[in-house]
Amino acid sequence: MSEHVSDSAEWLALQGHAEKFNGVHLRDLFGSDPKRGERLTAQVADLTVDYSKNLVNDEVLSALLALAERAKLRERTAAMFAGEHINVTEDRAVLHTALRLPRDATLEVDGQNVVAEVHEVLDRMGAFSDRVRSGEWTGHTGQRIRTVVNIGIGGSDLGPVMAYEALKDFKAPEIECRFISNIDPTDLHEKTHDLDPATTLFIVCSKTFGTQETLTNATEARNWLLAGLGSDAGADAVAKHFVAVSTNAKRVADFGIDTENMFGFWDWVGGRYSLPSAVGLSVMIAVGKEHFADMLAGYRAVDEHFLNTPLESNVPALLGLLNVWYDTFLGAQSHAVLPYSQYLHRFAAYLQQLTMESNGKSVRLDGSPASFQTGEVFWGEPGTNGQHAFYQLIHQGTKLIPADFIGFSKPNHDIGEMHDLFMSNFFAQTGALAFGRTLDQVLAEGTSPEIAPHRVMRGNHPTTTILAERLTPAVLGQLIALYEHITFTQGTIWEINSFDQWGVELGKVMANQLAPKLTASSEPAADDDSSTNALIKLYRSQRGR
Ligand code: F6P
Repeated sequence: MSEHVSDSAEWLALQGHAEKFNGVHLRDLFGSDPKRGERLTAQVADLTVDYSKNLVNDEVLSALLALAERAKLRERTAAMFAGEHINVTEDRAVLHTALRLPRDATLEVDGQNVVAEVHEVLDRMGAFSDRVRSGEWTGHTGQRIRTVVNIGIGGSDLGPVMAYEALKDFKAPEIECRFISNIDPTDLHEKTHDLDPATTLFIVCSKTFGTQETLTNATEARNWLLAGLGSDAGADAVAKHFVAVSTNAKRVADFGIDTENMFGFWDWVGGRYSLPSAVGLSVMIAVGKEHFADMLAGYRAVDEHFLNTPLESNVPALLGLLNVWYDTFLGAQSHAVLPYSQYLHRFAAYLQQLTMESNGKSVRLDGSPASFQTGEVFWGEPGTNGQHAFYQLIHQGTKLIPADFIGFSKPNHDIGEMHDLFMSNFFAQTGALAFGRTLDQVLAEGTSPEIAPHRVMRGNHPTTTILAERLTPAVLGQLIALYEHITFTQGTIWEINSFDQWGVELGKVMANQLAPKLTASSEPAADDDSSTNALIKLYRSQRGR
């Protein structure tokens, strides 16, 4: 067996750098290099990425790049883009990048030109969304569709919700989308109780078409539809008000959805990477096929950069390596993502699945345990709201929390001076986090010596600034692809499989096994652990069982 990356000289060198780096302050790094800001800024498509306020010097950056070479990041990237089965535990290719290849490209995987298949589905989605948007597609009573409700969970929900919210400024006014994900019945209730079934279209979105939450919600949504449409409504009505997005035609047909109205994708698209596939149908209906194509072009621009740019100026690779530096070598446990755009209010939630389901692993590709820190906790909220909530802990707490600040020079809605004020917060925060305020500065402002220590800000909190001109479909695609490839870079260094999710699968199996105990008419066997047994008993009694 070949040597693990974590046993290599490059890894050991970084451990040495981590010890030496303790105490180096961003004030000194900027003080000794007046051009640091410009020097450590890179461009990827429309995104300007300033990584100068990170806790690195040139030696650490070189050591991280050497680690990437040692981990064969370039080779593994090429293997992913070529459709090799790098998802070894499921023996699958990992080809979300093929979802955004241009129509005239060719990519043969397992004997099939997948690009032709991708565009065949995109064309069908485009034709369908045109019909819904124009009102040509009508429901059972002949009325046009006003509300599209996507039913899905995880990757079949988080991407569509996030992108729908992000691109609201581009959406057709006559269509609203809603998203039902949770099996908590309140989600279904809240999203349907004020809708007219006659003008509602459901998209049942599930890669496997076997997910408990989605199938339960879809079944109840069908009941709601049929009850609302009246006694003459049956299979015909379901065909007009239900379409499916899935890889599993048989299960779609078994559910009662006409497979003519099914939009397929492939097992080589992971759920958390699936927004640019048919999973994005609700978004395409909302914003139109042209804007959806712009989003795919945005993804593609970053894909090409990641595949072809040398590592030293390869933005996703650099940011992924910085994350490894913080997480594995400096001991950071979490990473904040702070978009200064209210439209991106679901971006952190989306990234949580992308990053944490991908890299929340403790076993390496060869089955050996990873004896170091892997996937960090991603979290965040839009600025400036976060400033008045949790930023205090980032500024003056005891934890190392690298943070990404994402902002836009042009607002989607320019009202008075608001956007300039908004962005002054954006720029001020990264400066305050990096440089803080010294005791001398605080005392010079006239603060009493007793209070002064409380007002000192240590600074040295690392941030990366991502600035684009405006939040457009293309820029959104670029941002998503950027984080996809950051995630991949980290997984490659750690030698883990970023494309399976066995931990989540266990939870699904256990919930299905336990469900009958909650509803059984007689007392079920107390054969779980003592905590679960007692909780089930209490639950049953509170439900009157
Ligand atoms: O949460 C686990 C998971 O398997 C995700 O990876 C996936 O996005 C989600 O469930 C939904 O799965 P499906 O699209 O098959 O319903």
